[in-house]
Amino acid sequence: MEGMGSACRPDATAHEPGVGGLTLNAYNIMRRPRLVARRQAEKVSASLSSSPTRAALSVVILISGRGSNMEAIVRAVQAGRIPNVSVRHVISNVADAPGMETARQHGIECSAVSDMGELAAKLRQLKPDIVCMAGFMRIVPPEIVREHTVLNIHPSLLPMYPGLHAQRQALEDDAKWSGCTVHYADEGVDTGPIIVQYAVPVKPGDTEEALSGRILEKEHVAYPHAVMLVAGRIARERAQVTGSGGGGGGGGGGASTGQR
Ligand code: GRF
Repeated sequence: MEGMGSACRPDATAHEPGVGGLTLNAYNIMRRPRLVARRQAEKVSASLSSSPTRAALSVVILISGRGSNMEAIVRAVQAGRIPNVSVRHVISNVADAPGMETARQHGIECSAVSDMGELAAKLRQLKPDIVCMAGFMRIVPPEIVREHTVLNIHPSLLPMYPGLHAQRQALEDDAKWSGCTVHYADEGVDTGPIIVQYAVPVKPGDTEEALSGRILEKEHVAYPHAVMLVAGRIARERAQVTGSGGGGGGGGGGASTGQR
């Protein structure tokens, strides 16, 4: 989603106390990343495993190209690391996106769409519980984010460096840290409540390619983590609605929020 213009929000960090130019959320994740992530993962995984929801929660992934984040989510689901979740479909706005072939190799059904109207119709038909934009280079229309729970991944510690070439922006800014963010998509570009952030150092002499590669490694951890947190939230909310308990998973994620 990043890339189609940039809604820079220079005041956004003002809402949270910052540490060394980073949001408090990013700072905490850097200080205790493994402990925080492991505790959340244990809680949410337990909640999903004990979920009374019979059918697995369905995930549809939107891609435009390589699809490595899509594959990271698929692998995590297939390895049982995101219990009670199923990747049902991959949709690309680029008919020959390499990620489509990767998805097929994993046994996932794929479709290409030629415009956002077709995408909206396809999603209405599929009725996914979660839609993941993973390198999807189109702005999705407002009705899609209103009708579905839509997540996006961006290669920076938002709200820093939204929009195109986030890694280049970090280098040009002489940032000491960058990373990736998975967030709920709203009607803006790279805005919306943050679910998880993973930080990486920017090293002296880094090229855009080197920094992108270091961030991408974290993206492949961050996206499955975020899907697990959001699936856990949905499972707990449904359990509360049906009054059936739903396991004691706390979870919540870095800034996991109860949006939509
Ligand atoms: C990733 O860096 C992601 O953050 C950005 O686009 C890239 C997509 O990579 N939105 P891939 O297609 O998932 O390999």
